[in-house]
Amino acid sequence: MVMRPISDAAVERAAASIHQPRDPNTLSNYNAWRTKHTKADYEIDFDAKRLKGTIELTLERLAQGERKIILDTSYLDISGVAIAGLRAKYNLASSRTEPYGSPLTIEVEERHASDQQSELTVQIDVQTTNDCTALQWLTPAQTTNKKQPYMFSQCQAIHARSLLPCQDTPDVKSQYTFNIRSPLPVLASGLPTGARDFQPGKDGKPGTLLYTFNQPLPMPSYLFALASGDLACASVGPRSTVWTGPEELKDCQWEFEEDTEPFIQAAEKIVYPYAWTTYNVLVLPPSFPYGGMENPQYTFATPTVVSGDRQNVDVVAHELAHSWSGNLVSNASWEHFWLNEGWTVYLERRIQAEVHGNEQVRHFSAIIGWKALSDSIAQFGEDHEFTKLVVDLKGKDPDDAFSSIPYEKGSTFLWHLERLVGKDKWDRFIPHYFTEHKERSVDSYEFKSTLLAFFESDAAASEKLNELDWDTWFYKAGFPPKPDFDTTLADQCYELADKWQALNAGKSTDFEPKADDIKDFTANQSVVFLERIQTFSEPLSPSLVEQMGSTYAFSSSKNVELVSRFYTIGLQARDESVYNPAAELLGKVGRMKFVRPVFKGLMECDLELAKDTLKKNRDFYHPICRNMMQKMLERFEKGK
Ligand code: BES
Ligand code: ZN
Repeated sequence: MVMRPISDAAVERAAASIHQPRDPNTLSNYNAWRTKHTKADYEIDFDAKRLKGTIELTLERLAQGERKIILDTSYLDISGVAIAGLRAKYNLASSRTEPYGSPLTIEVEERHASDQQSELTVQIDVQTTNDCTALQWLTPAQTTNKKQPYMFSQCQAIHARSLLPCQDTPDVKSQYTFNIRSPLPVLASGLPTGARDFQPGKDGKPGTLLYTFNQPLPMPSYLFALASGDLACASVGPRSTVWTGPEELKDCQWEFEEDTEPFIQAAEKIVYPYAWTTYNVLVLPPSFPYGGMENPQYTFATPTVVSGDRQNVDVVAHELAHSWSGNLVSNASWEHFWLNEGWTVYLERRIQAEVHGNEQVRHFSAIIGWKALSDSIAQFGEDHEFTKLVVDLKGKDPDDAFSSIPYEKGSTFLWHLERLVGKDKWDRFIPHYFTEHKERSVDSYEFKSTLLAFFESDAAASEKLNELDWDTWFYKAGFPPKPDFDTTLADQCYELADKWQALNAGKSTDFEPKADDIKDFTANQSVVFLERIQTFSEPLSPSLVEQMGSTYAFSSSKNVELVSRFYTIGLQARDESVYNPAAELLGKVGRMKFVRPVFKGLMECDLELAKDTLKKNRDFYHPICRNMMQKMLERFEKGK
């Protein structure tokens, strides 16, 4: 353990923070008590669609004389609380504080209040409810082989509190033990320590096994993850496996086996050795609302990454990069989310450049990112709070602030710093930053001070860093300065799009679309082509949309990145032939990145069809996605 001198200012800040923690999105008093270890003993009840059991928290006392432990909960049933095995008094707030849930206040009686005792163990008997926002339950009919039920969790940003009572803030890190009973195989965000202790079923229910996992590295609550269902696994590298349904296993293995280990080695070269022992991917059912989620040991991924062409493995590079940025060094609150996602996008692109041995792919990926940034800024408006790098989330729901902005403005900032100090020097800072803050949580001010301190003895770098307008980068809404992109890989896509634009404008041109136009394109180059078409002020004519779909086979592609963008173009063009296929896609894919634009386009074209689609697929969507669609619909109907 390295001892660091503590300044008076730091002591004052610490004292003040007891009353005003730096994370505004938790109701817990985490500056008075701090979770060190969490034990989750849960039984998965597929019939009742709930988890039931006991959560045991080991809490360190930080403030003397503090007689209350306040934990986050959201839509949980609490049936008993004990401290050190003795029944304790508690109160679960009867009304919710939106959007943060219902605080659970536990009284620390005199006998436990001795300041000599630095730790307390609290046991809470708990079950989840139907309103749980962190879990999706699928019936056998909703799975591909229709044989078994399925369940999975998604806790980021503040949904862990609807799965377990906890200090639901990324500013607190705990070790975890998972003891999970289920009739079906279980994965949890830890290292598996066994499956044993069979118990026969009662009342016609299937028997259960106890699946145990241990997470020795301290992690924030949002990385708590569980999945259970008819799961099989295959190797995709020396320290990696892929998990999915038995029927999908071969395809998933093929998709990831070539890149996983090279990605890990590239990341290790850029930062330092991988800390989590194994890196595995769980490919979920299609309702998984995100592209990927960096749960330790098991990245959770949408099946849309398995496109049969290895063209979407950048999601793996991204989630893997979180093993350093986010999972080892975590943002201290969602106001500093760019430290998680900006760093991760930055590393993801460095990994790609390393693996491909060229910088052009990095620029190309950043060009795609810049388009996503522009879309997000347009969606919020250029002056909006959520277009800042460091945002104010007091009283807000972090899910509402979610966009490409922290990803792209954040990675643009880091790239800017790389150029400012020079790549060689910056490359020495990367491992330093991730060593200095390993197993901790950081905010933007600590990032800044770590960087300034690292270059203190380097006059040239220091001067540049001190001259940098930090406040503008942190707090100015809207676009950051645009990097000077190498557009080599994008130019061919723009040129082809321009030809279509000319065709659409009826300009005399000798351009005749043929399948060969895109034969040398990677899928991402087709993405750039389609996105360019989307930016044209005049939508394509419906007949050109149909011609494009058939000539380039976009309408029959297995790659949803292409299909969804193509449908968006068709919807913009009011091409009625895509309305039904677009609605069908919405019944097959619940990844919000695709649902958002396609559902928006469909509402604008055919509101009744859009409403029907939501109604028909309500149970298919994850609660987070369903709520988003519901909100989109309400806003659309109000605005009409
Ligand atoms: N951690 C995020 C997903 C997330 C963020 C879930 C905030 C809930 C709240 C994950 O690492 C991510 O960024 N996923 C991207 C993948 C991509 C950038 C390659 C996604 O889901 O699209
Ligand atoms: Zn991410």
